[in-house]
Amino acid sequence: MVEKIQQIHQEVLAYVFDENQKAEQFRLAYLSKKGIITELFEVFKTCSVEEKKSLGSVLNQLKREVESKYQEQKEKEEALSDQQHNAEDVTLPVYQFQSGALHPLRIVEDRLLEIFYSLGFDVSEGPEIEDDYHNFGALNFAEDHPARDMQDTFFISGHVLRTHTSSVQIREMEKGNFPLRLVMPGRVYRNEAVSARSNCFFHQIEGLYIDKGVSFADLKQTLYYFVQQFFGEGTKVRFRSSYFPFTEPSAEMDIWAGLDTEENRRLTKGTGWLEVLGCGMVHPNVLKSCNIDPEECSGFAFGMGIDRITMLKYGIADIRDFFVNDVRMLKQFAGI
Ligand code: PHE
Repeated sequence: MVEKIQQIHQEVLAYVFDENQKAEQFRLAYLSKKGIITELFEVFKTCSVEEKKSLGSVLNQLKREVESKYQEQKEKEEALSDQQHNAEDVTLPVYQFQSGALHPLRIVEDRLLEIFYSLGFDVSEGPEIEDDYHNFGALNFAEDHPARDMQDTFFISGHVLRTHTSSVQIREMEKGNFPLRLVMPGRVYRNEAVSARSNCFFHQIEGLYIDKGVSFADLKQTLYYFVQQFFGEGTKVRFRSSYFPFTEPSAEMDIWAGLDTEENRRLTKGTGWLEVLGCGMVHPNVLKSCNIDPEECSGFAFGMGIDRITMLKYGIADIRDFFVNDVRMLKQFAGI
């Protein structure tokens, strides 16, 4: 009997649990009614009193060991099944997907297009790599105009990276389809030092309206409408006379930001006014270079920086923030 108990003890110590030998199988083999331990106790009953004295404690010790081995494994299995169960718990909160957001420049460009579509403008685009003629010559820049200087323009083997979207005006007028009512968004390049307020590339949107009898009043009303739509009803505007080679008369348009906050005083350099765009009546020389008779047709044009008005609208202080791809910055524009 002692030998038998020792043999079973060895067997229990060597018992390894796995997929087919789980706690339940172990219980059936050792502790159930027909289990080995139960059988040993049956045999024990038939032993003499002397034998019982020496065997009792050994047998009980074995039984306790078997029971605790069973208990330990059972708890392990229960914990595991809890875990698996949790993984499938349909009441748990759903996994939060990171959804993308439109870039603020895209949001503003879309809004600008929407406003000008509502006025009957179509959209068009031109090449970023231009020739000197479309970027300067046809736009009435004199041969020695400083804007052609290396300071401002990136030259690439006989071509230039366009310095403004006004080049697209020429490409469209050359096509000869009139009347023309277009907005032309796109990227432009200038050889300028990169800082919080200027970048070597940025975005513009050009506007052009060519027809019989287009006047400066049409230009003012169009831009006034745009400002009310984009910056909000009641926004005040002013036109300051200015100079561009390709428009005459020329103006710059400002909007009233006010002087009530420190931020506005800084942004407006103490004037309360923010410059938004350049505009004017298309210069007769420009019309002529596109085979349009200035006696017959007139037109207006305007151009504004999309980056600039996005910064104004959303209070972004540094133009470089648009291009560093910091998701914390971009995320703020989700759902706008
Ligand atoms: N092209 C000018 C600029 O880049 C803006 C402009 C466009 C001015 C059209 C007048 C008419 O500053």
